[in-house]
Amino acid sequence: MTRRNSLFAATMLAGTAAAFSLMSTGAAQAQGALVMYCAVQEEWCRAMTSAFERETGIKVSMTRKSSGEIYAQVKAEAQNPRADIWWGGTGDPHMQAAEEGLTMEYKSPNMGELQDWAVRQWEQSKNRTVGIYSGALGFGYNTELVKANGIKEPKCWADLLNEDLKDEVQVADPNSSGTAYTLLATIVQLMGEEKGFEYLKSLHKNVNQYTKSGAAPAKATALGETTVGIVFMHDMVTMVVDNAPVKVVAPCEGTGYEIGSMSIIKGAKNLENAKKFYDWALTPAAQKLGAEAKSYQVPSNKNTPVPPQAPKLDEIKLINFDFAKYGSSEERRRLLSKWDNEVKNLPK
Ligand code: G6P
Repeated sequence: MTRRNSLFAATMLAGTAAAFSLMSTGAAQAQGALVMYCAVQEEWCRAMTSAFERETGIKVSMTRKSSGEIYAQVKAEAQNPRADIWWGGTGDPHMQAAEEGLTMEYKSPNMGELQDWAVRQWEQSKNRTVGIYSGALGFGYNTELVKANGIKEPKCWADLLNEDLKDEVQVADPNSSGTAYTLLATIVQLMGEEKGFEYLKSLHKNVNQYTKSGAAPAKATALGETTVGIVFMHDMVTMVVDNAPVKVVAPCEGTGYEIGSMSIIKGAKNLENAKKFYDWALTPAAQKLGAEAKSYQVPSNKNTPVPPQAPKLDEIKLINFDFAKYGSSEERRRLLSKWDNEVKNLPK
């Protein structure tokens, strides 16, 4: 091909691509679109997106971020909302957004099929957020590292303060991560605020990194980059299923749990599609996609089979988690800034 010819070919190609992209935007508009902020594991976000697109023909534009990051984004965009639906992640920032009027009231016709804890979440948020799954907080450790370094197997929250775990514990930052905020709220409820913060300060000495995403420490534990990872137990189970040398622990003192939630953004530009997604996401057919994507939470629809790998919530010592209090705007802001001031920047 001569240079002129190849230039011509390139221009033609670009023209065709532009025409195609115009056509596909046209098609997407014809069938409608949905902008979704997703806070669970990427694989599950993608499975939900493609299944919903297949089912409805609605084109989904999905962004995956951690719970606290989505809250911050939704708040920043409040004057001109970009997203329609916020699916997944811990309930606390959904509750805070509800209180601040960033999300919308909605009652799905599928509410009657949901577990009590999912409905309570909806009632406590004045109908603005609903429970889609639940899972207990815990930690996991790398069995090979524990053995090789002669570390006592940790069984309790207290064990994570042992000196032999110096720089060997990983957990996320509660500002970005709902998992880590659940840890903060759990420790405060379990030990009382004063003792709880003493605990978190001591734990800080053993923390090698505060990650952005809540589940990242599970991967790091599986890879042997850290001995212990504090995560939701089901995120560690995913590593076990992938044959990583890790053990999942339900801490002996008791632990907190999450109600993963879903909300419709106030001012959603594709409101009807957001409602369609909301109703669909509460059905067993949609909820079953979690386990298929190796996410082992307990689903909120009573008719969705609980994955056999899911940690059994009735066998775990769960605290009576006050979701309304720890999801309230004032309390969440206060605890996060206290953690920033008193824990995060402590010298080691
Ligand atoms: C993982 C867990 C979810 C949890 C989410 C919170 O994806 O599987 O159960 O809701 O983390 O993410 P974050 O990054 O906000 O801690």
